[in-house]
Amino acid sequence: VDKLKVGLAGLGTVGSAVVRILQDKASQLAATVGRPVELVAFCAKDIRDGSLDLSAVRRVADPVALAADPGIDVLVELMGGEGDPAKSTVETALKSGKAVVTANKALIAAHGAALARLAEDNGVAFNFEAAVAGGIPVIKTMREGLLANRIDRVWGILNGTCNYILTRMFDEKLAFADCLKEAQRLGYAEADPTFDIDGFDTAHKLAILASLAFGTEVDKDAIYVEGIRQISLADLEMADELGYRVKLLGVAVRTEAGIEQRVHPTMVPKDAPLAQVGSVTNAVKIDGDKVSLTLIGPGAGGPATASAVVADLCDIARGNRVAPFGRPIALMAKPQRAPM
Ligand code: HSE
Repeated sequence: VDKLKVGLAGLGTVGSAVVRILQDKASQLAATVGRPVELVAFCAKDIRDGSLDLSAVRRVADPVALAADPGIDVLVELMGGEGDPAKSTVETALKSGKAVVTANKALIAAHGAALARLAEDNGVAFNFEAAVAGGIPVIKTMREGLLANRIDRVWGILNGTCNYILTRMFDEKLAFADCLKEAQRLGYAEADPTFDIDGFDTAHKLAILASLAFGTEVDKDAIYVEGIRQISLADLEMADELGYRVKLLGVAVRTEAGIEQRVHPTMVPKDAPLAQVGSVTNAVKIDGDKVSLTLIGPGAGGPATASAVVADLCDIARGNRVAPFGRPIALMAKPQRAPM
């Protein structure tokens, strides 16, 4: 059988963890999907995990060259960032008929519809499970599992770093800056952690979820965004006295007047299930007309996020191709913003 030849751009926290899984679980994955899924080439500025054995893997200097390389079938983009080189790398791969897997929520939030169109025009898969809520298979749930539903609301805790900071600050009476440093050390935070703490990472994920939920093109500029930078331990203690926990929530709702999307710190009653979601855990609540459910799981970190990347690769190895946003791009509506 033909192996699936993988080219990987970016060997930071997530990229290193992907290599680890592909190597450690090679035979299990091959047996499961019916063919080997093999890393054949990579491109990286720095390699986060220095103990990886990449001696049998070809190193390519430039990510766009890797994307165009005839020796690979699928490009995995884990560099991050909404612009180049990530954007041109993904575009090049799709245009050259290669499937793409990415964890890059900033890229999808900014250019999701155009990239989905490119994938459709070239007849290739474009998967981004790892872009939203780390290890939780929320994209697959929404675009496959819940496809018979009309979804009216999707919301929850979508940033592991913020949830980790808010939880540890309150539980252990620590300073914001120390909790953030620890989240960075653990590989939860973005390369630029202002994306996490100022709410933009949550907004990127919310924009993607809203697009999947409502069948509308991604509209990240419609989102009201407020992060957690201003929150002090005193605020958390005050909320506690009143019976609340503070959570950074992302909420997207279909209303009569259009789609409302917002990200802000929210007081959640202490005994509500969302208040119990601690540390780096994420929770996504989806309200459909047939099924409403909550998915809870690890929202950040190398191994959890790599789990989603590898699942996307395995879908491609199996020949499964689902429209990136669940429906053909021609059927996606222009989003109508609710006045806020
Ligand atoms: N920095 C992100 C978070 C990583 O903390 O949730 C996962 O997308």
